Amino acid sequence: TKAVLINSPNNPSGAVYGEDFIHQLGELLRKKEAQYGVPIFLISDEAYRKIIYDGRNYPFVWPHHQQSIVATSHSKDLALPGERIGYIAVHPSCSQREELVDGFIHCNRILGYVNAPALMQHVVSHLQSVTVPVTEYQRKRDFLYNHLNEMGYSVMKPQGAFYMFPKSPLEDDVAFVRELQQWLVLTVPGRGFGSPGYFRVSYCVDDKTLEGALAGFRKAAQKFNLC
Ligand SMILES: Cc1ncc(COP(=O)(O)O)c(C=O)c1O
Repeated sequence: TKAVLINSPNNPSGAVYGEDFIHQLGELLRKKEAQYGVPIFLISDEAYRKIIYDGRNYPFVWPHHQQSIVATSHSKDLALPGERIGYIAVHPSCSQREELVDGFIHCNRILGYVNAPALMQHVVSHLQSVTVPVTEYQRKRDFLYNHLNEMGYSVMKPQGAFYMFPKSPLEDDVAFVRELQQWLVLTVPGRGFGSPGYFRVSYCVDDKTLEGALAGFRKAAQKFNLC
C-alpha cells in the first residue's frame, strides 16, 4: 500500500469522519509504515470541508499523520463547478515533500491539466472565509431526507456535502435510475461509485426542482412497494 485516499464529507454518501476515526487511521498507518518500512501517504480529499451540517466539523488530518496530503477544490464551497480551482497542501514535515510538490507542479504544467488563471488564484486566496449558504443546503437536505424517508426509501442522513445515497428499491440500480428518468427525475447509479444497489441524488438545486421531483420519487416508491 502506497497511499490511502479518504473523502470526507463524502461524495456520494454525505458521511463525515470524526476525530476518533482519523486518529485511529493515523495510528494504523504508522503501524503499517513501521511493519513494511515504507511511507504510506494519507490523501484527504476535502472538496466539501466547508459544507457540513448540524454543528459538526471535519478534523484536520495533519495532526494525525505526518505523511499526509490535503486536496481541496472551490467547485463546491464557492459553487464554481468546472472552474477547476483549489489547492493541494503537503504536510510540512512530510518526508518526500519536495518531490511531491515538484510532481504536482509537473502534472499541472506539463501534462495539460487545466490551470486556473493567475488572476483567479489571487482572487480565491481572499475568499477563504467565503462559502455557499450552508444553512440553506441543510434545509434542502432536511426537506428531501424527510420526504424520501416518509416514502419508504432507506437512506442515511447526510452529515455534509450535498448528496443523498439511498438504497435502490431494485437490485439493479441502473434500471431504477432509468425508472426515475421516466418521471423526469435525474439521479446517478451507485455502481459508478463502486456501490451497486444504491443511487445518488444531488440536492443543491432550486427548491422548485426538489419539490418537482417528489412526485416521481413517490411514483417509483409505489411501483416497487416501498409504501
Ligand atoms: C469528492 C470530490 N473531490 C473532488 C472533486 C473535484 O472537483 P473539481 O474538479 O470540480 O475541482 C469532486 C467533484 O465532484 C468531488 O466530488
